[in-house]
Amino acid sequence: MTELPNQQKMTAPPRATVFAVTSGKGGVGKTSIAVNLACEFSRRGLRTVLLDADLGLANAHILAGMRPTKTLCDYIDGTATLADIAEHGPAHVKFIAGGSGVQAMADIDAEKRQRLVGAVEDLRPFCDVVIVDTGAGVSSNVIDFLGAADHVILVTTSNFAAIADAYGIVKVSVQNGHKQPIHCVINRVRTPEEGEQVFAKLLACTKQFLGFDLNWLGVVPEDGCVEGAILKRAPFTEAYPGSVAARYLTKLVTALISKVQKTTQTARAAH
Ligand SMILES: Nc1ncnc2c1ncn2[C@@H]1O[C@H](COP(=O)(O)OP(=O)(O)O)[C@@H](O)[C@H]1O
Ligand SMILES: [Mg+2]
Repeated sequence: MTELPNQQKMTAPPRATVFAVTSGKGGVGKTSIAVNLACEFSRRGLRTVLLDADLGLANAHILAGMRPTKTLCDYIDGTATLADIAEHGPAHVKFIAGGSGVQAMADIDAEKRQRLVGAVEDLRPFCDVVIVDTGAGVSSNVIDFLGAADHVILVTTSNFAAIADAYGIVKVSVQNGHKQPIHCVINRVRTPEEGEQVFAKLLACTKQFLGFDLNWLGVVPEDGCVEGAILKRAPFTEAYPGSVAARYLTKLVTALISKVQKTTQTARAAH
């Protein structure tokens, strides 16, 4: 009987680590960060998929300079498989585009949403990292994807409303039984200290009122190169690799990569 756990490990297939990038408030930089995290993981040799789950307002493909022919709408309709939708993006990231400006996607019912969330699970055997770019807010379209992830990356700016909404999404997630780690990125900061102060405030609230600990991940400074890269239809770590934003973004991946290697190496060793 004592042998059983090892025997189970021997048959466990390799399994990607899933990171969901989310925020309470929209427009805080989730998609910019999700796309660039995916590129940086990929540049470090990990097979990476970016899944655009901002249902109805998907735009990760625009930031990546892509014109997808198929989207998750086709997957939901049953007319395409995930393999049909996935396209090669910058830095060899596989992109799974969401449906943009499609009300049917924003209003999907629970059954279709479960199919979409299940897509995340279906991707795991085929890559090392899945980055899910979620929408903003506390709807089931967001919360269900957070529940499917191994790690949540919570993005906020120093804006008071953005911090309050970041707290809101942690609250709803925790009330829904969320247990996975939530790592905070404070975006568009003028100084690293500004980000640390925002994190300290947010952490104090989640500890006191929810009994939930948040993890510090890092900051991305305000940098005109982020907008400049969007205008160029390229991820900022590709268009401006020497920029301040790109340098800080790569630090986030350095901090996250140990989480990936743990899961993937355990799975690979067991395979
Ligand atoms: N670090 C940054 N510095 C400057 N502008 C930024 C930064 N991060 C995001 N932005 C700008 O904020 C806007 C919203 O970013 P986006 O990634 O689309 O946010 P979200 O996905 O949260 O809605 C974009 O125009 C982007 O250029
Ligand atoms: Mg977005």
